[in-house]
Amino acid sequence: MKVLWFISYCAYLLGLLGRICAIPHSIGQSQFLSDGESLVSEGGTFELGFFSPGSSTHRYLGIWYKNIPVRTVVWVANRKTPIKDRTGVFLINSTGSIVVTSRTSGDIWSTNSFKDAKAPVLQLLDSGNLILRDEKGSNSDVYLWQSFDYPSDTLLPGMKLGWDLRMGLSRQLSSWRNSDDPAPGELSNGIELHEFPEAVVWKGSRKYFRGGPWNGERFSGAPDLKVNPIYDYSFISNKDEVYYTYQLKNKSVFSRLILNNTASSRQRYVWVEASLAWILYSSVPHDYCDTYGLCGANTVCVITDSPMCQCLDGFKPKSPDSWNSMDWSEGCILSKPFSCQNKEVFVKFSELKLPDTTKSWVSDTMNLQECREACFKNCSCMAYSNSDIRGQGSGCVLWFNDLIDIRQVSNGGQDLYIRIEASKQAGRHVVNAVLYSLIAVAVLFGLALFCYYLSRRKTKVRGVCGRANSAPCFFNNKLVYGITGQDEWTREEPKEDLDLPFFDLATMANATDNFSLNNKLGEGGFGPVYKGTLADGQEIAVKRLSKNSGQGLNEFKNEVKLIAKLQHRNLVKLVGSCIDGDEKMLIYEYMANGSLDSFVFDQTRWKQFGWSKFFQIIDGIARGLLYLHQDSRLRIIHRDLKASNVLLDADLNPKISDFGLARTFQGDQCGDSTERVVGTLGYMAPEYALYGLFSVKSDVFSFGLLLLEIISGKKNRCFRHPHHHHGLIEYVRFKEAPVSSFFV
Ligand SMILES: *[C@@H]1O[C@H](CO)[C@@H](O)[C@H](O)[C@H]1NC(C)=O
Ligand SMILES: *[C@@H]1O[C@H](CO)[C@@H](O)[C@H](O)[C@H]1NC(C)=O
Ligand SMILES: *[C@@H]1O[C@H](CO)[C@@H](O)[C@H](O)[C@H]1NC(C)=O
Ligand SMILES: *[C@@H]1O[C@H](CO)[C@@H](O)[C@H](O)[C@H]1NC(C)=O
Repeated sequence: MKVLWFISYCAYLLGLLGRICAIPHSIGQSQFLSDGESLVSEGGTFELGFFSPGSSTHRYLGIWYKNIPVRTVVWVANRKTPIKDRTGVFLINSTGSIVVTSRTSGDIWSTNSFKDAKAPVLQLLDSGNLILRDEKGSNSDVYLWQSFDYPSDTLLPGMKLGWDLRMGLSRQLSSWRNSDDPAPGELSNGIELHEFPEAVVWKGSRKYFRGGPWNGERFSGAPDLKVNPIYDYSFISNKDEVYYTYQLKNKSVFSRLILNNTASSRQRYVWVEASLAWILYSSVPHDYCDTYGLCGANTVCVITDSPMCQCLDGFKPKSPDSWNSMDWSEGCILSKPFSCQNKEVFVKFSELKLPDTTKSWVSDTMNLQECREACFKNCSCMAYSNSDIRGQGSGCVLWFNDLIDIRQVSNGGQDLYIRIEASKQAGRHVVNAVLYSLIAVAVLFGLALFCYYLSRRKTKVRGVCGRANSAPCFFNNKLVYGITGQDEWTREEPKEDLDLPFFDLATMANATDNFSLNNKLGEGGFGPVYKGTLADGQEIAVKRLSKNSGQGLNEFKNEVKLIAKLQHRNLVKLVGSCIDGDEKMLIYEYMANGSLDSFVFDQTRWKQFGWSKFFQIIDGIARGLLYLHQDSRLRIIHRDLKASNVLLDADLNPKISDFGLARTFQGDQCGDSTERVVGTLGYMAPEYALYGLFSVKSDVFSFGLLLLEIISGKKNRCFRHPHHHHGLIEYVRFKEAPVSSFFV
């Protein structure tokens, strides 16, 4: 018994000794680090030791931030070969290899042998770099080996992503498989070596994202990274090395770049001490247009356009049928092959992410004019550009054959000169320039009309939105108006009388049993809705508008008449209105089957409903929307289309409700400081939700979402998938890349 006790006491002492010995910041050849011990960098920033990721019990040797309470591992040695127990040991063995070994499974991870080193020492630096150097060597500062050369999923400041051409070493990031398993997952990120090298994120063996080639200042497809408070970055390309690297502007800020398998993106996080959390700072792919080659060859992807894929000028869809059904994978071909007798011209496109540089050629000395001539001389040359945009621009890049993965990058991007047959130029426009100036003119025209209207209306906001003000219609960067004025309604009182009855408050109170809770059908965006029965037995729905619409009586009357003019069998019919003191009500026909959401989001009812009925409903909604957008005298943007705003009559015919209200009852006054974006989160088009910019496209976006909800029977915001954290849209969008295209 005593002997046993003595042995265990000795073991304890030995363990203690081991622990004390491990405090130094380095490991020499006769030392080792066993599971449970750790090595700390000199300034105490990083720590190296054995750990178990997530809920796994497997042991890995890794490096993490010592002072960040959320365990954040930045490097793992034995990513693919975990140790199943706690017998792991880390050391430099007698033949000079760095080894992770375990009593139960032997050497499971090792480096080359550095047997020439006289006194090899492993040291963890404050940069997070684990290095091996020879303390007694002729140059003890040379790193014989460093973990920065073998990244895991994390790029720390000072690490190089890319090539050391002298050693033939390509440093790539690869995502963890998941938070429990650091083995390499689907995503990887490195530099592709071409004449004009560029950084690429791969998904499996396929290209998934590229940021565009480096133009001396930034990557042509990622302009927003250039100016930021967190880090400086650079891209070095010479005969020895080609790499990307970054440095933090403030050394006491923690920031890291990772490849994230779960989110299928490359993310940059910043540690925020106040909230004790890593905050996502930026991430790529940025949007759908960033998906590599989404639109096929010789196209440009414009995220704000619908459809977002367009053939480049002078090109036509290779297979028009699939192109028109939004399968863009085959891309576009020249409308007319080059005669190659100098009959072509070059058209300048601006603000583009430059095409894939796999088939390119670069000269640092040529200027743009020489570049153009060089391109003319070779029949397969399709485009050229400056290779360096600094100053006036210099250097020359030529692209051969198909142009792949071009997108529009507004407020950034680069000029690209694309070759087309000469005859094309006069007839067909330069897509970007002309289209966008047309749109701009149309928008300005709309604004002008609107301001004209407001100035005529003599409202209290005249000063803000008056004629004298040149950019009057934006408030807090929001365009705050819902109708692209086409109509004379602001100047003329509607003349025809629609026989729209006005009811008094007593009648309404009677009909709705004094607005009793029993009669309440629901609560809409503009106030509660009650079911009522008129004296003649007609069933009605009464929308009691919130009192703060701030509108004058006559204005309200006029606008009710205007709404009443919108008549279509897929719009809910307005049968009357009621004004009494502060009270304003709209009276609609009653819809026996309630709203569409009760059929779509109730699993049992959804399953029983049947596709032909759903199809009929979708068709009806589309017709109603088309009427609002195109066929009515007023052009109405609904702004809050969703399942609960589609009502079903006794025969299950769909009828859109709440149209016209957004305009009427939300301040369409530029100076209104209570201005807010109406609509329902999750249904709003991104540009509307973020910037308050709306157009008929915002409604189309909501319609698309409604369509997805009907098809899936799931609410966008409640959508959960076991393997995805996205909402319904992101799930459909990113399910596969390239994506099945029905969604867009
Ligand atoms: C050191 O480790 C390497 C790699 O595992 C191995 O090949 C070599 O035999 C080891 N040396 C000794 C003396 O065990
Ligand atoms: C660097 O960051 C720290 C911590 O956020 C802050 O206290 C300090 O003022 C910053 N230094 C500079 C020069 O911005
Ligand atoms: C990956 O992204 C997801 C979703 O954005 C996030 O929840 C998760 O924490 C990220 N993983 C890592 C390792 O940062
Ligand atoms: C055109 O350029 C390509 C790519 O550099 C080259 O392979 C081809 O030989 C050139 N053709 C002519 C006619 O110069």
